[in-house]
Amino acid sequence: MTKTQILNFFSDFVKIQSVSTDKKRFFEIKKAVSFLKNFLLKLGFSVKILEKKQAPPLILATLIFDKKAKTIGIYGHYDVQPEDPVSEWQTPPFLLTQKDGKFYGRGVADDKGHIVQNIFAVQKLIEEKKLKNNIVFILEGEEETGSIHFEDYVKEAKDILSKVDVFYLTDTGMHQKNAPQIFYGLRGIIYFELTVKIGERDLHSGVYGNRVYNPINVLSDLIGKIKDIKTGKIQIPQFYEKVRKISKEELLLLKKTLKSDEEEKKEAAVFGLTEVDSFGSLSSKIFPSFDCHGIISGFTQEGQKTVIPKEAKVKFSFRLIEHQNPNEIEKLVFDFVEKNLPKEVKWELRCLSKSAPFYTDVNNLWVKKTATILEDVFDKEVIFNRSGGSIPAAEILQRLFKKPIILTGFTLPDDNIHAPNENFDEEMFFLGIEALTKIYDT
Ligand code: BES
Ligand code: MN
Ligand code: MN
Repeated sequence: MTKTQILNFFSDFVKIQSVSTDKKRFFEIKKAVSFLKNFLLKLGFSVKILEKKQAPPLILATLIFDKKAKTIGIYGHYDVQPEDPVSEWQTPPFLLTQKDGKFYGRGVADDKGHIVQNIFAVQKLIEEKKLKNNIVFILEGEEETGSIHFEDYVKEAKDILSKVDVFYLTDTGMHQKNAPQIFYGLRGIIYFELTVKIGERDLHSGVYGNRVYNPINVLSDLIGKIKDIKTGKIQIPQFYEKVRKISKEELLLLKKTLKSDEEEKKEAAVFGLTEVDSFGSLSSKIFPSFDCHGIISGFTQEGQKTVIPKEAKVKFSFRLIEHQNPNEIEKLVFDFVEKNLPKEVKWELRCLSKSAPFYTDVNNLWVKKTATILEDVFDKEVIFNRSGGSIPAAEILQRLFKKPIILTGFTLPDDNIHAPNENFDEEMFFLGIEALTKIYDT
């Protein structure tokens, strides 16, 4: 396969607007499925599409040539985050663009680029007749919406997946250019939508201000009670009860990747940082967190309008760490909301998705072999790290199949995943393919 063929495939893949949170673009999800299916069929894979009503399908593609050989599972997600705000993109979001040594486009880093790398690493081994492991691709289409059906899907595919000896998940990034990482931990996440309604219609704030509840004020008051914005401490009773305290050894290991405040400010392009105890940049991977993602209510157009809206809605999530249990946290949050909202308003709290924190043992031969190859290809020691992000599939695959899970990836800290101008460094992209070829060849 030539570089042009890889780029054509990558470009066609990025063109598909597989934004899983946007129901109006569900047909694009289906397009991504047939696009991947057709290509994998051409490579000789047998392809099974698992489908549930209204849910993005799971693609399972197997290439078994020797029942006695080892079987490698390769996970990736073909869905992407929405492209908004479009005006901040310097190139069209769904057009793969090469500029200044980087690929730009929605999903190039998270996670379409990694899927392309994996497919062509395997393709190279097939082409050179060197493939000696069986391969199973597990390609998900609802990772960015919380992997709600993933557990049911993989249970349906138990017969194939229980034969897998190791799962590779390439959906994370490098510490910096040429500095490969293997992740042994991810945070879990629980995502909510809370609606507060004060009555049947919008009101004049001059006529009713003070006498009626204002749903935006009510929600802001509640949000303010959930966490202290300066220290980041979550105030919900028992929230931290199950959190595993980090050991001295682990802290020492993680300190290798500690960023200074200046570095972190620059990387995130923020004017200042909060005061989360003494752990600095580590605090977003070793502690839970709480964030609001959007508030919908009232008058948001230009100019002024004196209205008390009848309802307001907020989207928020908690990141969880070992050993917090998402079901227990859901209950604590529900109780807290119930106790802290005024009795006179109607409210609804919906949990949109939840996934448990992931933590794994990296003392096994597969990890050692992988680390050696990464060190060889990138000529730098592998960093063992934890990430504050979440990939529900990691915990689910580990719990159900009890096989080594290897989390790695080749994007850089300025990859802008989920944001405008998402990118993947070209050199790391091609070196990544080389590394994966060697990894799947052993
Ligand atoms: N690839 C990311 C997770 C990630 C981000 C790992 C940064 C390492 C570093 C994944 O696609 C993602 O964005 N997950 C969501 C999950 C959520 C929507 C349930 C996340 O973490 O917000
Ligand atoms: Mn991802
Ligand atoms: Mn993502």
